[in-house]
Amino acid sequence: MKFIFAVLLAAVTSVIATCSSCPAIIPLFRSYDKSVVDHFYTAKASEVVSAGNLGYSPEGIAAGIFPTQVAESTPLFRLFQVNTTDHAYTASGIDKADFEAAGYVLEMTPGFVYTTQICGSVPLYGLFHPRANDHFYTTSTSERNSAMISGYTDLGIVAYVPVQGVIIQGNSC
Ligand SMILES: *[C@@H]1O[C@H](CO)[C@@H](O)[C@H](O)[C@H]1NC(C)=O
Repeated sequence: MKFIFAVLLAAVTSVIATCSSCPAIIPLFRSYDKSVVDHFYTAKASEVVSAGNLGYSPEGIAAGIFPTQVAESTPLFRLFQVNTTDHAYTASGIDKADFEAAGYVLEMTPGFVYTTQICGSVPLYGLFHPRANDHFYTTSTSERNSAMISGYTDLGIVAYVPVQGVIIQGNSC
C-alpha cells in the first residue's frame, strides 16, 4: 500500500511539476585522458584548462546543467577514486554513499539536475568500464551504444539534464 501510494505520488508529481519559466543553464564540459582512461566533467572552464594541463583532452559540451537550484532539481555529485583515477557522477544520495564506501571522495557538485524527465529535460546515460575503471556519461544514444560495444556496462539513466532555459550566449526560452 505504501509502495502504491509512493508510485501514485511520483506520477502526480511529474505531471504537475513546476518548471522554472526560463532558468539559467550552463554547459557541462567533458574531458578525457586516454592514458589513465578517465572521463572528467566540469561546468568550470578554468577546470577544463587545468585538466588539460594534466593530460586531459577537451571533448566539448556533454550536457546542460543548472548553476543554481531550480524547482524540482537536485545536486549532481562529483566523486573521485584516486587509486583507479576515476571520476563518477550521481544525483542519488544512495549511490553517493555506495561510491564513498568504495573509496570515492566527494569533490563538489558541478550543478543541479532533475531525477525525473520533467520540464523538457533529456536523459543522461551512465556507463562503466570495469577493466578500465572508467565512468562515462552521455546524452547521446548512439555514443552510449558504441561505448557498450567497446566494453562499457549500462548503468541506466543517472539524471535528466535541462535543455530549455537561458543558455550562455543564447536564449532558447
Ligand atoms: C588506495 O590503495 C591503498 C593501497 O592498497 C589503500 O590503502 C587505500 O585505502 C586506497 N585508497 C582508496 C581511496 O581507495
